Amino acid sequence: MSKPILFLNGPNLNMLGVREPDIYGATTLAEIKQISENQAEKHGLKIEFRQSNFEGELVGWIQEAVEKFDGIIINPAAYTHTSVAILDALKMVKGPVIELHISNPHTRESFRHTSYVSLAATGTIAGFGIAGYRLAVDAMAELLR
Ligand code: DQA
Repeated sequence: MSKPILFLNGPNLNMLGVREPDIYGATTLAEIKQISENQAEKHGLKIEFRQSNFEGELVGWIQEAVEKFDGIIINPAAYTHTSVAILDALKMVKGPVIELHISNPHTRESFRHTSYVSLAATGTIAGFGIAGYRLAVDAMAELLR
């Protein structure tokens, strides 16, 4: 029997809509959650959508995915560029791991050019704005087919 997909969002993504709208747009995380769930439904997938500002909480949730979820989509936000702990947790996940960014970090400050998460990711979606959330669900459906 198939399990749900864990969809994680890191620090400051709860502030979407307010936070640097020139980079991240005007859509709120609640709206993005709805968009992602609708897209998952089209593929017959269930997603569990969560956000945290705390590294340890994200690590705990990734550990949960080892048993309870078929794959992870994660926008690790700033932890992308700093967190060995999140990388190590993701390495335990057997199913697909999709790294997602609203912006394209490679066109931004040089400290955003390194991603620890990429070392554990099946693939990365970046630079498509909020549409990336839909595309990430499509990519997960494709990988699980
Ligand atoms: C981000 C890019 C990161 O560099 C940044 O720290 C974020 C958001 C994105 O979605 O574009 O918080 O992951």
